[in-house]
Amino acid sequence: MTDVHHTEQIIAAKKIVPVVVLEEAADAGRLADALLAGGLGCAEVTFRTDAAAEAIRRMAERPDMLVGAGTVLTAAQVERAVEAGARFIVSPGFSDAVVARSRDLGVPVFPGIASPTDIMRALDAGLSTVKFFPAEQLGGIPMVKALAAPFRSVRFIPTGGVNTGNLAAYLAVPAVLAVGGTWMVAPDLLAARDWDAVTARTRSALESIS
Ligand code: 3PG
Repeated sequence: MTDVHHTEQIIAAKKIVPVVVLEEAADAGRLADALLAGGLGCAEVTFRTDAAAEAIRRMAERPDMLVGAGTVLTAAQVERAVEAGARFIVSPGFSDAVVARSRDLGVPVFPGIASPTDIMRALDAGLSTVKFFPAEQLGGIPMVKALAAPFRSVRFIPTGGVNTGNLAAYLAVPAVLAVGGTWMVAPDLLAARDWDAVTARTRSALESIS
């Protein structure tokens, strides 16, 4: 559990978790450079592509990067992610199998939740930090506040529709640990290998909350 709290503290300090969909693992190093140049040593590399495990491995080599795995849907993916060096696991919804395997391996896991019932499942599993997904589509900030009211120990990582325009308002909610999103690592930027744009969007996101 100590490692869980330590990792959560790092995520809270970074405030933003870029959600990465990388087609080519060979681009992982350049992407890490671009994020670090923008001031953000953090990434959630999603298992939406076959490049995920190798991309995690390459990014996790950087001592200044906190790299986790996202869109983790199975226990087998938890194993591949941890073996590659992922320091946290994120899933879009709540899966007993994903949560159990993550806990067996001692890696922090942030399951997606969309309702009070989901949160109670997370609490039953001994978790108190969850991804709120998809955040904007589910009602955004008023919904986070409504969910936080009865669950005072729960911390949320809203993801989905978060961007530089609404980032500060999410982070102003005390129950929000950090936010996640693709906007500074948008698929079109990665496809074009526009690393300067990744750096610029990352920097401007951080400036919006400084
Ligand atoms: C995710 O899986 O976390 C979402 O795709 C992120 O949503 P966004 O693209 O709206 O940031």
